[in-house]
Amino acid sequence: MNFENSLTKLLGVKYPIIQGAFGWPGTGTSDIAVPVAEAGGLGILTTICYKDPEEFQGDLKKAKELTDKPVSVNFTLMKDTKYTNDYHEEFIKMTLNQGIRTIFTSGYDGTAIGHRFKSAGVNWIHKCATIRHAVSAARKGVDAIVIVGLEGTGYKSPEQHTTLINITNLVKLVNVPVIAAGGIADARGFMGALAMGASGIYMGTAFMATKEFKVAEKFKQNIAKQNITDAKNAKKIYDMEHGGAASLASGVIDSVPTVKEFIDKIIGDANVLLDEMKDWGRFEE
Ligand SMILES: Cc1cc2nc3c(=O)[nH]c(=O)nc-3n(C[C@H](O)[C@H](O)[C@H](O)COP(=O)(O)O)c2cc1C
Repeated sequence: MNFENSLTKLLGVKYPIIQGAFGWPGTGTSDIAVPVAEAGGLGILTTICYKDPEEFQGDLKKAKELTDKPVSVNFTLMKDTKYTNDYHEEFIKMTLNQGIRTIFTSGYDGTAIGHRFKSAGVNWIHKCATIRHAVSAARKGVDAIVIVGLEGTGYKSPEQHTTLINITNLVKLVNVPVIAAGGIADARGFMGALAMGASGIYMGTAFMATKEFKVAEKFKQNIAKQNITDAKNAKKIYDMEHGGAASLASGVIDSVPTVKEFIDKIIGDANVLLDEMKDWGRFEE
């Protein structure tokens, strides 16, 4: 199946598969963004994972040298921290100078940054955790919205819903592409999101368990080998106090693939699933 749609056209990519922002020092860099771009998805560099704007600028240039496919930049804003609009000033100028096609904002109100980029002809996508914020972002002129369900990694909100409730409802409320995030890691999650009305998927945890991701091997193995029946894992989903825990989104069992193997598997399995679904009607004959 050809997965081209309005989102892939907006982003200039082959598959509607986006690698999430990673703010941990040294993780959300070209090391993961370039292989994702090369494999047909959209890779993102996360400004807050760099020690300073110069390090970011060098890595953004490197990414552009290593791939001719689009890579993107995430600006994570956090209330009551140094990660404000002012903090991002240099990063914004550097990104504008590199001719990036799409940027993401997340965490807090990204309108000021989003409008700067929009007036320079750059696509603006905002990531949020609640339907209320997603509707508000749509009013402010985003080109697409990522909405993260309770299943996802990150700080939880008491107003947050599951990925299924987010997507099936939000697509009725906004007229820009909706991108599903939270607990997605394989072809079933991908196809499920598309069936619910999402235009694409956005994954964090699953990309952490790939060969190229810059984190200790033990961490990747923990994601690949996590035990879904362990009761403490279920608690993570509605834990409002200890946000930020990695989700249960493992696209693999007991293995750590390369980014290309991972994305190819999602697309390959999605096509098998589609064939299987065509056969489902036979049981009714
Ligand atoms: C280690 C780690 C660091 C993250 N850092 C950020 C960040 O700095 N900014 C942000 O917007 N999202 C961040 N995220 C969230 C992801 O971009 C994404 O929304 C989330 O992982 C989606 O849920 P999933 O893990 O179930 O795929 C981070 C996720 C992980 C796993």
